[in-house]
Amino acid sequence: MNFELNEEQQAVQQAARDFAQSVLKPGVIERDRDMKYPKDEVRQMGEMGFLGMMVSPEYGGGGMDTISYVLAMEEISKVDASCSVIMSVNNSLVCWGLETYGTEEQKQQYLTKLATGEWIGAFCLSEPEAGSDATSQRTTAVDMGDYYLLNGTKNWITNGSTSDVHLVMAQTDREKGHKGINCLIVETAWEGVSIGAKEDKLGIRASDTHTIMYNDVKVPKANRIGNEGFGFSFAMSTLNGGRIGIAAQALGIAGGAFELAVTYSKEREAFGKPICKHQAIAFKLADMAKDIEASKMLVYRAAWLKDKHMDYSGASAMAKLFASETAMKHTVEAVQVHGGYGYVREYHVERLMRDAKITQIYEGTSEVQRIVISRNVLKGQLYVPMWAEGGVLAD
Ligand code: CAA
Repeated sequence: MNFELNEEQQAVQQAARDFAQSVLKPGVIERDRDMKYPKDEVRQMGEMGFLGMMVSPEYGGGGMDTISYVLAMEEISKVDASCSVIMSVNNSLVCWGLETYGTEEQKQQYLTKLATGEWIGAFCLSEPEAGSDATSQRTTAVDMGDYYLLNGTKNWITNGSTSDVHLVMAQTDREKGHKGINCLIVETAWEGVSIGAKEDKLGIRASDTHTIMYNDVKVPKANRIGNEGFGFSFAMSTLNGGRIGIAAQALGIAGGAFELAVTYSKEREAFGKPICKHQAIAFKLADMAKDIEASKMLVYRAAWLKDKHMDYSGASAMAKLFASETAMKHTVEAVQVHGGYGYVREYHVERLMRDAKITQIYEGTSEVQRIVISRNVLKGQLYVPMWAEGGVLAD
């Protein structure tokens, strides 16, 4: 196994680090405080190629591998997780889904704009009564011959009011259960699409989260992704990759808090020496370093498996589960290292702690990741080297 990054990956990592430092860091505290959408910053992310990183150059993207995408997500998340979720949804849910399963016409019409950041996309699966239980879609897409009539409500939609195009999961044939769900490409400007109020959130406060309502929206059949009834498989398959993006976001949040904690602990003195020289703090730093490094291995490995076109659904769930739990646990510890200073906005670390929480919830809660992992284990598809029937110690 090769742990070295190639030159292109190193260049992407450096570019994302510089961008995060010079462009995102200056206003991040104010944007979080005021729930201010980072309009200019997102435009610049598009210009830098961060919004369609893995899309083929043929459609205006960067043609990069998933590892490069993960490295950029990690660096941007260290500084501004609101910007990185906008980036993640556009890259791994919307662009990847369209490029992998869309028709040539759909790619020409939508992907070319989304990959450059000219347009922003949203992924509309969650509903008021269908979060983790995603097969229970209440939104309907009634087949009207050459179009679908779309009605329903989607909740907690990232890029809710700023997106130009939505990928909407909706039930066409209820009798077929999840096999009766379609994914439709819907433009925000179409008649019948309305956007609810912006959610006032604990973290990622500058990102744009809304309820979206669809009322008798006419969606041409040409805007369905894949065959009739492919919508749920589309959502699950797309989320397998999306979870790598969110895992990288969690890794970055944890890494950002860790870097702050190390720096602060070397500068701050108590009882006559820097606090990092006290075992109580040094052991915290050791535990953080160990868990962040382990997260990194899982996240990079999931990205590597995806790049090799190997099965990565279990690996991405493991990466997201471990990285998000690590981010939550160690951002709390990083606040603790900072003492009273950690509790005030100016030191950044309390924001990272608030931002960490959502990584355990969106794109599948930690509990959903455990469902995915355990099902993979039981199918024998995830690290179960059973050398003999029943295992090495079996009779
Ligand atoms: N990859 C591929 N296929 C999958 C899959 C995966 N990870 N998980 C399930 N499927 C397939 C199954 O194989 C099955 O297909 P077949 O019937 O053809 O065999 C089908 O999906 C239904 O699966 P289950 O029978 O397992 O369904 P279930 O209801 O028992 O459980 C679940 C499914 C895994 C819990 C699923 O509902 C799930 O992932 N829920 C979480 C939803 C989620 O992640 N939402 C995130 C919203 S988007 C978001 O957060 C974006 C943002 O804003 C940042």
